[in-house]
Amino acid sequence: MAAFVGNIPIFETKSQYNLLRKEIDTAIERVLERSFFVLGEEVSAFEKEFAEYLRVKHVFGVANGTDAIQLALMACGIGSGDEVITTPHTALFTLLAISATGAKPVLVDIDPDTGLINPELIEAAITHCTKAIVPVHLYGQSADLDPILNLAKNYSLFVIEDSCQAHGTTYKGKYTGTIGHVGTYSFYPSKNLGCYGDGGAVATNDPEIADRLARLRNGGQRERYNHELMGLNSRLDEIQAAILRVKLPYLNACNAARRERATLYNRLLEGLPLQTPLEKDYGSHIYHLYVLKLSSISVRNTLQIYLKELGIGTGIHYPIPAHLQLAYEWLNLGKGSLPQVEDTADRIISIPIYPELSIEQVEYIAAAIKNFSF
Ligand SMILES: Cc1ncc(COP(=O)(O)O)c(C=O)c1O
Repeated sequence: MAAFVGNIPIFETKSQYNLLRKEIDTAIERVLERSFFVLGEEVSAFEKEFAEYLRVKHVFGVANGTDAIQLALMACGIGSGDEVITTPHTALFTLLAISATGAKPVLVDIDPDTGLINPELIEAAITHCTKAIVPVHLYGQSADLDPILNLAKNYSLFVIEDSCQAHGTTYKGKYTGTIGHVGTYSFYPSKNLGCYGDGGAVATNDPEIADRLARLRNGGQRERYNHELMGLNSRLDEIQAAILRVKLPYLNACNAARRERATLYNRLLEGLPLQTPLEKDYGSHIYHLYVLKLSSISVRNTLQIYLKELGIGTGIHYPIPAHLQLAYEWLNLGKGSLPQVEDTADRIISIPIYPELSIEQVEYIAAAIKNFSF
């Protein structure tokens, strides 16, 4: 086994802050000096810079990724009585955003090889109430969008991309979040582009949706005290925007560093009785998470305890599929109704991956897994 290199958490932000400390501190001080904190110069500049990065016409900074999804749905006129198709294998926040509009989430099972929504199962879930599909670009890999966009066209549905885990992921040469009607991003600190608190963004090329989003995220106001829509109070703040402006220019290099570590894991774990992440050839994976699949829940759980004893942090993304969460009991989808996600949730484990994780640490983690008695 490689030399012991200390505790390795599943995720940490301090190393990156240490690398960027001067730039970040200067950016925060700039905001404090200006003492203008909500919807000011930093947010406008970040929206412009992120739009340029994504090659999309409009970006709006919002309070978090959950609000981004809710606002995107609201901007498409979705609400009470409507149905929105999505995946059960996601952060539950995707569903919470749908429910917050008054719409009902309708769940479609996943492709067990990738964890992504299975586009072949979507058409059967469409009813006269369906208004939108929310594919989730899980772990940093794009859902297969072409069949989803075709269905949306045939049934006049909106496609709202949950790109909260996919900042810089591509699908057939375009960035995810810019391909459907609206794209949504989270800047939660652990994301590939993360701020130092909560933050999010919505992206669109559609001028009418953009016009609604601009108002919806700011209480529905066109200008101050003129509320045209029942919007949310959901704004990215100036300090978070200033931090994101420092980090955005490093995003592609950070994603490349994650990919390099994923490639090394793939090579070092080859031949073991586990499945390494499957990369689809239609796009690029930016490894927000590196997720292994084991042969059974007991092997997965034992591996997790074993790695913890060696000081290696792990996670399970996600242990309880959305339809088995108490909050969504009312969907009346019992155990066995979505077999692929239920089986997947039992067998997956996420191991550390971030740009600052050293090659030595990757080798240590891989060696530890190799030594595990499967
Ligand atoms: C796939 C997905 N959707 C939505 C969200 C919600 O984002 P936030 O935590 O910024 O509200 C997250 C993050 O937790 C996510 O990973």
